[in-house]
Amino acid sequence: MSWTSERISHDEKSIRNALQGCGRIPRHVGIIMDGNGRWAEDRKFPRVEGHRVGMESVRDVVKVASQLGVRYLTLYAFSLENWKRPVMEVRFLMSLLESYLRQEIDELHANKVRIRSIGKVNALPRGVQHMLKRAMDLTEHNDGLTLTLALSYGSRWDILRSVQMLSLDVRRGKVSPEDITEETFRNYLQTSFLPEPDLIIRTSGEMRLSNFLMWESAYAEIYVTQRLWPEFRRMDFYKALADYARRERRFGCTSSQIGEQVSEHADHLSTLEHILNALH
Ligand code: IPE
Ligand code: IPE
Ligand code: MG
Repeated sequence: MSWTSERISHDEKSIRNALQGCGRIPRHVGIIMDGNGRWAEDRKFPRVEGHRVGMESVRDVVKVASQLGVRYLTLYAFSLENWKRPVMEVRFLMSLLESYLRQEIDELHANKVRIRSIGKVNALPRGVQHMLKRAMDLTEHNDGLTLTLALSYGSRWDILRSVQMLSLDVRRGKVSPEDITEETFRNYLQTSFLPEPDLIIRTSGEMRLSNFLMWESAYAEIYVTQRLWPEFRRMDFYKALADYARRERRFGCTSSQIGEQVSEHADHLSTLEHILNALH
């Protein structure tokens, strides 16, 4: 189904207009999708049920991000540390991932989503690797949302890997140590195809990065919500974007150097706040 023809309510249209009117849609959003286990345990369900329902949240957020014109969405789906979880949970997560890709690939492709991944992909089961490759190959030339799945990913792992590759290039004489800049280093990271994240969302109230995009998030805005991932849907995503739209990003400068533009969008922002408050 084409996402552009989806019917949405009047309220939702107003939210989108206000968000887009601010001109503050983040280019790159990263999400640490946390709280699946707690969501399930609260309901006396097995933890994996939280992962299953969490996939519905993924579907909704991917669609809405694409519709709003977010260019890059990076989802932290499985960390390197998550391999330490009970075998059955890991197995379930892997089969969920495979079936997500299998089921969604056509719709994602039809909506011009480009699928990418970061992480130690060769540690994933063959079936997942295969589906991932298929999805990436099929969508390679799409020019819509870039959906990056962080799978078997850890930021320290990526940074160390980059240091090793850079060291090899130094040894081969391709790079001299004094020429190593942030830019050259960045090119070795698996995330080199991504712009730096503007907004990092973490669900379930935990205030930590848990090894997600640590180099890249140096100046990302961080938004933490108490909502657990399986219950995080489009309205929560709008709330996060509305919060982001209000932030002043100073990058070490002073407010006056930035030439604060937030006030120019005061009307849009108050409309947004008004609608979102009424809805919740
Ligand atoms: C996030 O939810 C999903 C993954 C890390 C794979 P959790 O499974 O971490 O849920 P909680 O944090 O235990 O509630
Ligand atoms: C972070 O969640 C990893 C993902 C969301 C994939 P965790 O639940 O693994 O993080 P910690 O252990 O609470 O820091
Ligand atoms: Mg967790």
